[in-house]
Amino acid sequence: MSLPTIRRATPADAEALSRIGAETFTETFSHLYPPEDLAAFLDAAYTVETSRRDLEDPDKAVWLVEADGAVVGHALAGPCDLPHEAVTPACGELKRLYVLKAFQGGGTGSRLLAETLTWLERDGPRRLWIGVWSENFGAQRLYGRLGFEKVGEYDFIVGETRDREFILRRG
Ligand SMILES: CC(C)(COP(=O)(O)OP(=O)(O)OC[C@H]1O[C@@H](n2cnc3c(N)ncnc32)[C@H](O)[C@@H]1OP(=O)(O)O)[C@@H](O)C(=O)NCCC(=O)NCCS
Repeated sequence: MSLPTIRRATPADAEALSRIGAETFTETFSHLYPPEDLAAFLDAAYTVETSRRDLEDPDKAVWLVEADGAVVGHALAGPCDLPHEAVTPACGELKRLYVLKAFQGGGTGSRLLAETLTWLERDGPRRLWIGVWSENFGAQRLYGRLGFEKVGEYDFIVGETRDREFILRRG
């Protein structure tokens, strides 16, 4: 198996992004929700249309991770819309960072994260934000090592389930 590669996605990747988005969210979080809530959430958040809008938005950027011809991960970055009073239009946010389980633990997530942070700070240092599930200790360690600190909490709602999310900030 060769080392996964990372590339910026284009609007032509809308279907691939929709697929890997739903696949990685399901693999990571499906145990938290009743199946009907998960299905409704995926139908709303990971459609091809939503993905195309993200890909066409000049203020956002998407990356795909590929291994042996298949998409195995993705990341999404853009303006911050986390619910915190210190967020301004100048702030950036890492909105998604996902690598399929079979490809985790080999440094791919760190490389993907480095790409997104470099893009977010392409015009110089900037206040950056990340929302992360309160019990996602692995991701919190990863972000903590890069200088992100917890500055707030909010509820992420999927159907009838309310998940506690931590709001992290750097800068
Ligand atoms: C977070 C994630 C992208 C990291 O990818 P990766 O290829 O495993 O990353 P690397 O091998 O470069 O780095 C590993 C670091 O990721 C973190 N990590 C490890 N396993 C993890 C897991 N199952 N979930 C979240 N983070 C994890 C740890 O901080 C780890 O560093 P450590 O081993 O020194 O503690 C990947 O684990 C993932 O997709 N997890 C599920 C989705 C997720 O939680 N995304 C973050 C949402 S905010």
